[in-house]
Amino acid sequence: MQIYKSADLVLHHTFSISQTSQYIVEIESIEDLKSVYLKEEWKALPKLMLGKGSNVLFVEPFEGVAIVNRLQGIEVNETEADWKLHINAGEDWPSLVEWAVNKGIGGLENLAMIPGCVGSAPIQNIGAYGVELCDVCEYVDYLCLESMKVKRLSKGQCQFGYRDSIFKHELYQKSIIVSVGLTLTKSWAANTKYGPLQELISSEITPKTVYSKVCEVRSSKLPDPNVVGNAGSFFKNPIVPQLQFEKLQQKFPSIVAYPADKGMKLAAGWLIDQCGLKGYQIGGAQVHEKQALVIINKDNATSQDIVDLAAYVRQSVLDKFAVELEHEVRFIGRSGETSLKQLLGDKL
Ligand code: FAD
Ligand code: EPU
Repeated sequence: MQIYKSADLVLHHTFSISQTSQYIVEIESIEDLKSVYLKEEWKALPKLMLGKGSNVLFVEPFEGVAIVNRLQGIEVNETEADWKLHINAGEDWPSLVEWAVNKGIGGLENLAMIPGCVGSAPIQNIGAYGVELCDVCEYVDYLCLESMKVKRLSKGQCQFGYRDSIFKHELYQKSIIVSVGLTLTKSWAANTKYGPLQELISSEITPKTVYSKVCEVRSSKLPDPNVVGNAGSFFKNPIVPQLQFEKLQQKFPSIVAYPADKGMKLAAGWLIDQCGLKGYQIGGAQVHEKQALVIINKDNATSQDIVDLAAYVRQSVLDKFAVELEHEVRFIGRSGETSLKQLLGDKL
């Protein structure tokens, strides 16, 4: 276990903004993880589990212990019908997808190039191009921070939803995911419902051709965090009741929306784009020119620049459409998670 004191978090998140943490600890085993929580000296300090930091924004120096996930290892079991994978939480998600595709194992290809660790994937039930983690997940193992025992949840118990799971609710701050079980069926069928994937010729479809197309589409609009700091979609696509959607559609006939569980899911990128905000900049932070849902660190942005821009985007969409955007990116303050609303306080 590596321990760093008063260390910079810049290499542990994807916004490319310097921010210190009182401690950064790299854990390689569940025993390491337990010892961080049990260590007397750190008992009173806030703790933050991190994968690759591709869905976080550090808004202030973190006055606690940031724990970096290095739980490695993959077990593969082949049955007549499926491939069963048991993957430790610190494995890299995009590498796992590439490995599966190269082995001819289908099921993960639509989820190509989503940065992050395998153990972070269940938290917001990562999703892209018509597939979500819950479509392939069989179970999630987590360290229960009350009992310090590893427990297993079946997929049904994980309460997966759009960018949502039990780990954001009942088990929030009570659990650390340590491994994930996936079942990938050998009766693979391509999922090509999403727009540009429909261009694929059905007789030539393999996990690899879908994977290549997804990579091509993603690379054309999403910025590579190794080149320009960002955390993917900054806001979630808001879900509004059917009646509200119909009123919006009357006023804005070209509004982009999809049926969702409890109403219609609006394309937040479209809403932001319609406010004329593509390329809009505050300080070093910019609304991405190719995808308005992404905020980038264009030019040495500070966390405050990103927060100010996010607040401006949220307010613009609220003023024009009377729809409130909620951020997908997790805001981390001095002593733990915070939110745009909390930071803005009276200014709202
Ligand atoms: P982190 O950012 O490190 O952590 C995210 C949250 O989970 C934090 O609150 C953290 O405390 C908590 N956490 C992390 N690990 C654990 C653990 N083991 N146990 C308990 N809590 C933990 N997401 C999508 O769904 N679809 C996309 O298409 C997509 N595209 C993206 C594209 C880009 C360019 C970028 C930068 C991001 C994108 N994202 C997308 C968001 C991001 O990739 C996912 O949310 C990813 O799962 C985050 O993984 P991470 O390891 O970086 O998590
Ligand atoms: N759109 C615009 N202008 C923009 C951006 C989008 O008009 O600037 C329109 C597009 O033309 C399209 C619609 O909005 O009609 C949706 O855009 P897109 O297909 O790019 O997807 P998205 O809704 O912006 C979501 C996820 C992404 C995921 C893609 C692909 C959320 C919050 N975001 O983006 O996930 O990769 O779909 O499935 O659900 C992430 O979560 O970080 C992420 C990148």
